[in-house]
Amino acid sequence: MSKIVSLSKRRGFIFQSSEIYGGVEALWDYGPLGSLLKNNIKKEWLERFVQLRDDVVLIDGAIIMNPNVWKASGHLEHFADPLVECKDCHSRYRADHMADGRFIGEGKAKEKNQCPQCGGKNFTSSKQFNLMFKTFLGPIEDETHQAYLRPETAQSMFTNFKQVQESMRLKIPFGIAQIGRSFRNEITTGNFTFRSREFDLAEIEYFVKPGEDEKIFEQWVNEWEKFIVGLGIKKENLRRYEHKKEALSHYSKRTIDIEYKFPFGWSELTGIANRTNYDLSQHSKFSGKELAYFDEETKEKYIPFVIEPSLGIDRLLLALLVDAYQEVKGGRTETTESTKEEEVVLRLNKKIAPIKVAVLPLVKNKEEITKKAKEVYQLLKPNFICQYDEVGSIGRRYRRQDEIGTPFAITIDFETLEKDDVTIRDKDTMKQERVKIKDLINILKEKLENV
Ligand code: GAP
Repeated sequence: MSKIVSLSKRRGFIFQSSEIYGGVEALWDYGPLGSLLKNNIKKEWLERFVQLRDDVVLIDGAIIMNPNVWKASGHLEHFADPLVECKDCHSRYRADHMADGRFIGEGKAKEKNQCPQCGGKNFTSSKQFNLMFKTFLGPIEDETHQAYLRPETAQSMFTNFKQVQESMRLKIPFGIAQIGRSFRNEITTGNFTFRSREFDLAEIEYFVKPGEDEKIFEQWVNEWEKFIVGLGIKKENLRRYEHKKEALSHYSKRTIDIEYKFPFGWSELTGIANRTNYDLSQHSKFSGKELAYFDEETKEKYIPFVIEPSLGIDRLLLALLVDAYQEVKGGRTETTESTKEEEVVLRLNKKIAPIKVAVLPLVKNKEEITKKAKEVYQLLKPNFICQYDEVGSIGRRYRRQDEIGTPFAITIDFETLEKDDVTIRDKDTMKQERVKIKDLINILKEKLENV
């Protein structure tokens, strides 16, 4: 994991938030490459679940909602983790994490129920700690003006159920999708971005007729897994975990997590829940507005059940980095320079790679070559996210691109000046082919689409 953290910082994927002030725990900033990667993941998600489907529409809800939403949804009452405090050093931990031995080997913790900070074993009894961040609406900071930063995007899809269904004339089954920021005041942090206090959630609330829910639940588990595998995560690093009945969230009848084999162990990557008609019934009760659906054909009226696949984009991005990261001892090429070193190759899927094409003049000190390389760079820029690099030996520059997962590197050499062609180097195979500059855009487009 430390290698992923170091690569992320060194190459501009992820930085600790407010680092110059010593950082803030569990808050992260995405750098130039991380932002591009994150956007590409979101784009893929939108394409697959909104653009390519006829039955899912997108919304973009507000982060702060009417506080009654959280009463109705049960989050004020139930969205809490058990908290214990070390009586010796006053550090606070999640009681379940303390009891399951998660801290063993961390700091001074050698066994279960031992404080990593001071080694003490003296804890307060556990108290429920609500994970929602609080704020105030308007200038008066009292309880009547208290509001919350949403811990999930789901609720605005429930509160807008009727408006979306009517305005878009949707028939059940249909889904509402949303990607947006969510906030949780997590007690146990660590493991880089895995458990952040602010993160992007991509969720779908899929409304179905009661009775159809169990079958459609299975379909969404498969769809969700296919999407993750399609982005390049190796199947052998994924497994399913079915939540035990007694451990289900307050709204769920059935939940399956898809877990990923992170360097710190198998952990939840994403989850699919059968939320029944819990949320719509609760909002109907608390708002006094009817949220039932009327089926014009069968003349039936019912409160739909909801199947909810929910995916943390940041957690998926972390898994994608881990899965793509490969170290090659002694390097991949036979040249003397690289055989001495360890090479890092980020085997990211081309679809999500932050930089698609690197443009590299063979040498830096020949003006005809650098001029031509800059022309090629300008030609490609409107079509692909490109990077121009002329610093260091060509081998070193290839390796810099390999390390950030750039699928193609274009090299401009002396032959280019005579024949108006360049080489395309494929990151994964390291094979090079010569192509005419006039064909370059189409060839690259084809290669990038052909994943
Ligand atoms: N609406 C359902 C829901 O919020 P959840 O299991 O609490 O369910 C859904 O969260 C997903 O959000 C998780 O599977 C995970 O991918 C992501 N997630 C949850 N908490 C997170 C955190 N603190 N940091 C990053 N991602 C998180």
